[in-house]
Amino acid sequence: MPEPIESILAKHDRKQEELIPVLQDIQKEYGYISPESVKKISRYLRISENQIYGVSSFYAQFRFTEPGRHSLKVCLGTACHVRGGATLLEMLERSLGIHCGETTSDKRFDLERVACLGCCALSPVVQIDKEIYSRMTVNKLTEHLKDYE
Ligand code: FES
Repeated sequence: MPEPIESILAKHDRKQEELIPVLQDIQKEYGYISPESVKKISRYLRISENQIYGVSSFYAQFRFTEPGRHSLKVCLGTACHVRGGATLLEMLERSLGIHCGETTSDKRFDLERVACLGCCALSPVVQIDKEIYSRMTVNKLTEHLKDYE
């Protein structure tokens, strides 16, 4: 059982400067920060929910949607971008019916874009969970997705 939000909050002073450490602790415990968590943080630290979303949008590390069973990361670093990364991302957004930062309604996949996965020579690259798929094409990627339920 994850630690209740209330007891995570209780470890922090009720100061606005605690916002980032609080968000980090909640994300570590739950994998994301739910709308209910944001409400509780807002009450505890006396910061509006809008401010919380606003501040945290500067930090790529925070997610506000529940992760899917599998995470899809499309590399849009320079090398991958010029070799078709954006086309792969568009295909995924279209076929899964979600945008970057979202999770499919069946919780099968969540989708993110990343800046560089460190294997530019093999671009374009897509990562599914821990697996790196190199020299991806729309067709190959469509096939690989079938292996993840
Ligand atoms: S740009 Fe994609 S792996 Fe480096």
